[in-house]
Amino acid sequence: MLVTPFAPLGIPRLGVNVDHVATLREARGGVDPDPVAAAVVAEAAGADGITVHLREDRRHIQDRDVRLLRGFVRHMNLEVATESKVVAIATEIRPHAACLVPERREEVTTEGGLDCTLEPERLADVVGRLSEVGAQVSIFIDPDVRQLQAAREAGASCVELHTGRYADTHGAAREAALADLRMAAAAGREIGLRVHAGHGLTLRNVAPVALIDGVDELNIGHSIVARAILVGFDQAVREMRDVIRVAVLGGRALGGRAMDGEGA
Ligand code: PXP
Repeated sequence: MLVTPFAPLGIPRLGVNVDHVATLREARGGVDPDPVAAAVVAEAAGADGITVHLREDRRHIQDRDVRLLRGFVRHMNLEVATESKVVAIATEIRPHAACLVPERREEVTTEGGLDCTLEPERLADVVGRLSEVGAQVSIFIDPDVRQLQAAREAGASCVELHTGRYADTHGAAREAALADLRMAAAAGREIGLRVHAGHGLTLRNVAPVALIDGVDELNIGHSIVARAILVGFDQAVREMRDVIRVAVLGGRALGGRAMDGEGA
């Protein structure tokens, strides 16, 4: 199996999600902008990997995109639901990493983590099939000990913690969400899981999450693509990469306190 390296110097790896480049393309049904081109620019700008979500409704990323990306990028993380048709495509494509996510057709974006306790046998079967083709399999979960245990029991080597509640709240609620993420990262590492995090992270709110001990990858999409429209994809990726680095190195110098642009 191609194992993703751990984060050097404890700085989380940056996975750039290019789904919303495809969203813009699909708005006109043409060929521009191409998420594959954006992925190549992102890697050149210092992204450690490229993430895409092949949704059942194909609202953004298309089959052609994942096939091309597999050939072009150094590290591809393919998000799929546990539904058999997209899992079959994933096993054929053999991504370096696969992340199992919940999907509801009417949702605007992935709204919560996958409930790993619902259909444990089916989940274990999907994890097994993706692991067999060499993918590092993670499951996108809410920061909850029961979910960590169930993900481990399903055979996943990794979890991605859903940071949406942290990103969408302020003040005490945000502190509580951050505490849950810290607890889940520590508990996940303790039972042998690699821990990633993502959803709703921006230049302003990423620092406290980047500083959580044991989180070795952040997957960030919408805010990078939104910023890229103003400053270009290359610069948008560099800015995010630099903010994560400064957060971790500077935060350590400050004794673990993060410099949070939103005052968490
Ligand atoms: N990680 C997972 C598993 C996701 O489903 C998403 C959203 O597609 C992201 C990370 C990125 O979230 P955002 O686009 O809000 O940065």
